[in-house]
Amino acid sequence: MSGSWRIGVLPGDGIGPEVTAEAIKALHAVAACGGYDFAFIHAPCGGAALELAGEPLPDVTVELCLKCDAVLFGAVGGPSWDGLPRELRPEQAILGLRQRLGLYANLRPVRTRPSLAGVGPLKERHAGPDVDFIIVRELTGGLYYGPKRREALPGGGWRSTDTMVYSSEEVARIARLALRLASSRRGRLTSVDKANVLECSRLWREVVSAEAGHNCVALEHLYVDDCAARLVLDPARFDVIVTENTFGDILSDLGAVLAGSLGLLPSASLGDEGPALYEPVHGSAPDIAGRGLANPVGAILSAAMLLRHSLGLEAAASVVESAVDRVLAAGHRTADISGGGPSRSTQAVGDAVAAAIADIWAEGRQLR
Ligand code: NAI
Ligand code: MG
Repeated sequence: MSGSWRIGVLPGDGIGPEVTAEAIKALHAVAACGGYDFAFIHAPCGGAALELAGEPLPDVTVELCLKCDAVLFGAVGGPSWDGLPRELRPEQAILGLRQRLGLYANLRPVRTRPSLAGVGPLKERHAGPDVDFIIVRELTGGLYYGPKRREALPGGGWRSTDTMVYSSEEVARIARLALRLASSRRGRLTSVDKANVLECSRLWREVVSAEAGHNCVALEHLYVDDCAARLVLDPARFDVIVTENTFGDILSDLGAVLAGSLGLLPSASLGDEGPALYEPVHGSAPDIAGRGLANPVGAILSAAMLLRHSLGLEAAASVVESAVDRVLAAGHRTADISGGGPSRSTQAVGDAVAAAIADIWAEGRQLR
């Protein structure tokens, strides 16, 4: 089997370039094993683009992404740009990309690995090997994109406003996507809102219930505070969780903790047409940037999601995921998941994953 694809690469800032390089290493290994042709086309974004072009998301970067089959994104942001006005901040790059590529659904799988049972703040207490859920976060509505304002008060001081806005169609399309995903998995969908307080949440609940009416998925509604508690107390009960932008951001970091480290988790941002975007859930981690300390697994698993969702290479995606499992089980771990034991560098873990991809591919060939 063979095929050729264009993959846009936006490494960004901080640890973004370090972890993205390891994801590309894994994709090179897949290409070599499967006879695929991946063209990697790099473009600046975030703080890196600000320094080069004076804006965090130059039009050329967006145009390049639109010509690709999929986009691999690192992370953006850092303390040297924190004082800039909002429209110039590096984080505008990812917000702008989501909007301009129409990426309204963010899929964040959370899975605990038996090999990492002793790692992470919750350790083996709750997050056993049976935790396997996906958070589907609405990505282009809600507080992030609603009107914002800051005004001076006559008596001194300030008042600021962020507005949560959702239309019924915005809720319906993400509900349909989450229902499809749940029916391809264990058939259980948890919709998360704050319908006891927020009008947007009341609309959310009505629309999700109406969409689920045509479907055999088991739907439950939880308030976001209750959901946070249950994620800690009984994470294995969840299959697919669908929620609005801000709640999804917060709950998915909680999910990351269950898995052992923020550095382990991938994500996919999907729209109805055009290229999808794949990125680890973590940020640019300025505290560890440039030192070979970053965990590349979230970025590598994001590349696996790219193979699955954008290129249709399900078997190759599974090989990458198995390679990560094998490498972690063999104890090749960055400091964030080494539990105080010996740790490996970002590059060493990436090398080990690339080698494991080649091994697993060869084993598969022998079996056939
Ligand atoms: P962060 O995710 O960058 O870091 C949080 C903590 O997790 C830090 O202690 C960091 O060292 C650790 N960490 C993150 N990724 C890791 C990895 N792969 N391996 C090992 N440890 C890892 O979040 P933070 O500190 O809130 O934000 C830093 C910058 O990143 C800010 O400028 C923020 O705006 C930006 N950011 C960008 C995102 C994106 O590009 N999509 C998402 C989140 C934050
Ligand atoms: Mg976040």
